[in-house]
Amino acid sequence: MAIPLLSALAIIGTSLSTSATAQSQIPVNPVAMVNQFEATNGKFDGYRRSGAKGVCATGEFTGSPEGRALSVASVFSGKPIPVLARFSVGGANPKAADNTKSQRNMSLQFTLPNGEQWLMGNISAPIFGSATPQQLMALLVARQPDPVTKAADPAKIKAFNDANPEVLLQGRYLASQPVPASFSSVNYWGVHAFSFTNASGAKQFGKWVFEPVNGTQGLTDEEAKEKGPNFLADDLRQRVKEGKVAFNFNLELAQPGDQLDNATVALPEGRKKVTLGTLRITSVSPDEKGACVTVNYNPMVMPKGVEPSNDPMLSARAAPYAVALGRRLSEGPKQ
Ligand code: HEM
Repeated sequence: MAIPLLSALAIIGTSLSTSATAQSQIPVNPVAMVNQFEATNGKFDGYRRSGAKGVCATGEFTGSPEGRALSVASVFSGKPIPVLARFSVGGANPKAADNTKSQRNMSLQFTLPNGEQWLMGNISAPIFGSATPQQLMALLVARQPDPVTKAADPAKIKAFNDANPEVLLQGRYLASQPVPASFSSVNYWGVHAFSFTNASGAKQFGKWVFEPVNGTQGLTDEEAKEKGPNFLADDLRQRVKEGKVAFNFNLELAQPGDQLDNATVALPEGRKKVTLGTLRITSVSPDEKGACVTVNYNPMVMPKGVEPSNDPMLSARAAPYAVALGRRLSEGPKQ
């Protein structure tokens, strides 16, 4: 029996849109993802494929009573917890300039009693630049330089951005902020939601931000120019020597209805914020080496009492981080 034309088109339309949806849910192969990072952002042997230019530091975290009220995690006990930190500049280039309005990162490894660890990689923006691993992969493909011209195709980038406007929000935020005066003077957000479980079993979702105890500090365009492209590591060494570097670990508490599965969407303004504890940075590596060089700050490693949300970007980070670590270890890890 012949199918009327309109019905046939409807069937084709349904199957096309179903396959497009299915496509967007196909897990991204972590090897393909790291290959695409290299194809788009450049390959620098031995360096992290993201946050390549960085410096190791150590510190101590002390949890607060508010932290203990929200979560049974041993990190909030109030006893000093050793932390292995890494501060870095966004991007794959180990020679990235320190004096531009790009992303800064603060990655942390808390070493907890009973062999537990908490790993996290936090960024100097309240949101990330893609909502799903599939969108990140497509973004990288759209921005891949042509092998001949060595430049990305502006038409491809525009078409991708027009179809995925949320990928521009993070860049807009960073452009709206001054160049950070120091690794120690900018806020670092976790961007994903996590849940915190207390001794009564009550769960509270939230998104965290590490805020400098002495406040944020930015540079004017003139000051940034004068600082030059390599000042952040020495600045941090100096400020830590003076005992000035500390952050409050603050949790913005989610309310019912808040979107918790999208790293491009911050919690609404004005959510209650509680201080879970204070992180003090106590030493900075004198050179590019240090214990953080071989650490993979996989944010899916967390203590009992803290659980991940179902943000697809969060779980998608674990495998590519492992692939990237494997590559840089075999190349001879640097920074
Ligand atoms: C599917 C999504 C993502 C992929 C595939 C990805 C990929 C990577 C890779 C390959 C590295 C280098 C890891 C290493 O060599 O140890 C890295 C580092 C990093 N990423 Fe991501 N990333 C993703 C999402 C995010 C998000 C949402 C954030 C926001 C908080 C983020 C923040 C960071 C930071 C701060 C570092 C530097 C960590 C360090 O100092 O070692 N990433 N990322």
